[in-house]
Amino acid sequence: MNKPQYGKVYLVGAGPGDPDLLTVKANRLLERCEALVYDSLVPQELLDLVPESCECQFVGKRRGHHSISQSKTNNVLLEMARRYTLVVRLKGGDPFLFGRGAEEAAYLDSHGVPVEIVPGITAGLAVPAYVGIPVTHRLAGSSVTFVTGHEGIDKRRPTVDWRALAKASDGLVIYMGVHNLSFIVDELIAGGIDPLIASAVIQQGTVVGQRCIKSPLNSLVNVTKSQKIFSPSIVIIGSVVDFQVESCAPTPAYVTMPIPS
Ligand SMILES: C[S@@+](CC[C@H](N)C(=O)[O-])C[C@H]1O[C@@H](n2cnc3c(N)ncnc32)[C@H](O)[C@@H]1O
Repeated sequence: MNKPQYGKVYLVGAGPGDPDLLTVKANRLLERCEALVYDSLVPQELLDLVPESCECQFVGKRRGHHSISQSKTNNVLLEMARRYTLVVRLKGGDPFLFGRGAEEAAYLDSHGVPVEIVPGITAGLAVPAYVGIPVTHRLAGSSVTFVTGHEGIDKRRPTVDWRALAKASDGLVIYMGVHNLSFIVDELIAGGIDPLIASAVIQQGTVVGQRCIKSPLNSLVNVTKSQKIFSPSIVIIGSVVDFQVESCAPTPAYVTMPIPS
């Protein structure tokens, strides 16, 4: 029996929202791809780069709906690789950072599909930068931790030890943290973090409409609620927030990042 022949799948980072933050390599691939499988948080400007003949499939979460399962996404990718020689799997930010890129790469690899990773600019770096907040600073932050505030529903208990993190890292950059913010802040304070340490939440960063609120940690939850901050947001906790240089922040020029509920 003949083994199936597969095209190559590129797991490509789309960047955090501003389409100008796409890498040159990703741009080249989008302009040549025959099939595109993409997520929420991918701006329309990037979808417009693909050739007219390209088959496009959305596998993210639409407002008010659940995203399709990971196994379904894996099957879509396998099917695309069977039919096309150049497939782009476009994922928000960087494909490996809280993006399940590794799971998709492993699945495709196990079926003999050639895969290549194209790193992207992750939200945890770009979103603070777009409001002028550095994630490290010689005077305030020699270490920074990128951490998810939302763990997979299949995990029986949380694996992030927030109490330990309270003392282990000068700065925390939290993805998907708004929903569990109250729990996270309580745990960090219980772990010994200074309750008055600076913190910020940046919603929908790098695109028009981005919002940033700042507050001492012990009032962050109240401020976030009263300002109606929602996902997608990056939470940043640490003295680095005090080193914000607002005047160096780029002015977002694009509005087309889709906002999932
Ligand atoms: C599933 S994670 C994917 C992260 C992505 N792989 C990356 O490297 O940026 C999605 C989370 O990233 C953060 N995020 C992504 N884009 C963002 C943006 N433009 N503004 C604020 N947060 C963003 C939010 O915390 C959002 O819930």
